[in-house]
Amino acid sequence: MSWVRVAEIDAFAPGSAQRIDIGDHRVAVFRIEDDVYAIGDRCSHAEASLSEGEVDDREVECPLHGAVFDITTGDALSLPASRPVPTYQTRVRDGSIFLRLETT
Ligand code: FES
Repeated sequence: MSWVRVAEIDAFAPGSAQRIDIGDHRVAVFRIEDDVYAIGDRCSHAEASLSEGEVDDREVECPLHGAVFDITTGDALSLPASRPVPTYQTRVRDGSIFLRLETT
């Protein structure tokens, strides 16, 4: 699976997230300091958008019922979510963010 350019890193303030839709993939992309992470944007509890959640370091709190997810692994860290969300490989080249659409 090839890498897909999805955004400019300057479009993300540090500590912010955006939803990016690519084909069938609904992805929440996070910039944490100068690192970029991407996880599935659908909460594994009831499909709320994790890109709209509150970011705290490398964790995001679902805006609907408050489950917390690890942005780096996709793991659910608190109830009511108990299943992880998918993660995507990311890289930044020449100011652009690239995603690999094969989930890990
Ligand atoms: S929809 Fe995310 S915790 Fe319920």
